Amino acid sequence: MNENPIGIFDSGVGGTSIFKEIHALLPHENIIYLADSINAPYGNKSEEDIKNLSLKNTEYLLSKGCKIIVVACNTATTNAISYLRETYNVPFIGIEPAIKPAALSTKTNAVGILATKGTLSSQLFHKTSDLYANGIKVVEQVGEGIVPLIESGQLDSEEMKDLLQLYLDPMLKANIDYLVLGCTHYPYLIPMLTTLLPKEVKIIDSGLAVAKQTKAILSEQRLLNPNVKKPSVKLFSNGNVEVLNAILENKFETAYLDF
Ligand code: DGL
Repeated sequence: MNENPIGIFDSGVGGTSIFKEIHALLPHENIIYLADSINAPYGNKSEEDIKNLSLKNTEYLLSKGCKIIVVACNTATTNAISYLRETYNVPFIGIEPAIKPAALSTKTNAVGILATKGTLSSQLFHKTSDLYANGIKVVEQVGEGIVPLIESGQLDSEEMKDLLQLYLDPMLKANIDYLVLGCTHYPYLIPMLTTLLPKEVKIIDSGLAVAKQTKAILSEQRLLNPNVKKPSVKLFSNGNVEVLNAILENKFETAYLDF
């Protein structure tokens, strides 16, 4: 079991921001990544559709013997992780918008959160927000259109810049000092975001925290791979593999897969 792969999935190429952190922290682990790009974005789908897509991705990863599943998608985590945990007997790691650290650190008492509609409307997000953001102004913004632009390879476009400017405006007016990235596609926007945000606004991205949690759970369950030979690391897309390669700077083995 220890040599079995870590399974990671996202609605598309965004979860590779999590994959990279996991691979860097656990370099001996075998990994299978699924980019469900054909079904992206998940953010505008119903809870039931998100659950069914998450189930499909999980089934495929389990059929390949994955010992743990990382749901590298805020939308799938906030809408489907409890269901996945009830359905399958493997450990699941998820990612949720990091509202807690932002709420604990803010000096202006205002934080911004950029996420999908599916994440911001989920019960899990509201629970976390109510728990930690008491007395703090949380400016929630749906990042409508961002994921489709990334999935079509237009990360650095003028259109993206205009969208981000539009979404950041109300946050800056509210004097936020923290911006929480609530979608795993968004870390790829950090270079552009830093040009649009004043220096005082800090960006919170929880990729590394997810990788640390994955390591902690594998270690606790004695599932770490003791083998130090070169691991098998493969990333599959059921959409455009070129977009996956571009986001990975052609550094990893990828392929098209109909899953
Ligand atoms: N990466 C997904 C997330 O973290 C994007 C969701 C979508 O496909 O809309 O929420």
